[in-house]
Amino acid sequence: MIDIHSHILPGIDDGSTDLQQSLESLKKIAESGTRRLYLTSHFFKGHYEYSRAEYDKKFNELKSAMEAAGISLELKPGFEVFLQMGAWDDIRRESLFMGDSRYVLFESDLNGLPPDLYGTIYPVLRMGAKPILAHAERYVSIMKRPSEIKNLISRNVYVQVNAASFMGFYGAKVKDTAYRLLEEGWVHFIASDDHARGSYDTFPNAFTWIEEHLDRRTAELLMQEFPSRIESGEDIPYTYVKVMHHHRSHSRRKKSFLAKIFG
Ligand SMILES: [Fe+2]
Repeated sequence: MIDIHSHILPGIDDGSTDLQQSLESLKKIAESGTRRLYLTSHFFKGHYEYSRAEYDKKFNELKSAMEAAGISLELKPGFEVFLQMGAWDDIRRESLFMGDSRYVLFESDLNGLPPDLYGTIYPVLRMGAKPILAHAERYVSIMKRPSEIKNLISRNVYVQVNAASFMGFYGAKVKDTAYRLLEEGWVHFIASDDHARGSYDTFPNAFTWIEEHLDRRTAELLMQEFPSRIESGEDIPYTYVKVMHHHRSHSRRKKSFLAKIFG
């Protein structure tokens, strides 16, 4: 499995606090079946603010310490950019992309995505970046109307959902929303959003959960294949499943039945 969202880099955001905690986390993550991990530290002006050079220094220190400890895991740099004034300039200036790709993981205020989110994202699309909305299922507006996410996907925004959401970690409403997005084919990545807090079963458990509740192919796509394409550069499709709307085809059948009688 490949995990595209984590806060395991120490001393940079609200994730891991020190090198020892990071190493213990990386060991457990490797043992749980993850082979590549993106260290997507929060980049949030006024809260978690740093230069790309400072990030790279911490990244290289952790990578060396991990290798010295004999932990077999591929680490990739990344960021979780908070959507705010000037964010796109920061992305360009500091190169806040995932690995060597053009993918950008971003988040917004959970209580309210900007009303004109697409307008806000448009400049980043114009510069050739590929935005990924982090933990889409946790935004209040998406919980209220999950189908809103379609507008973003149709405008070239990818969608990431947290593994813990399927386990009910954020409550029933988030779990329902995560499942709705999943079964409609509105999710491109499932990731851990791990903050080095001690439980590392959630990510592999989500794989099994999706296999049981939907199908194995979807679990592979969202936790292995699509995440691997961030590195390989192979295109990730915005639409990857033809969704059957059972209730709609049902009502259509009814109509044609009535049409037969009265028509
Ligand atoms: Fe995160």
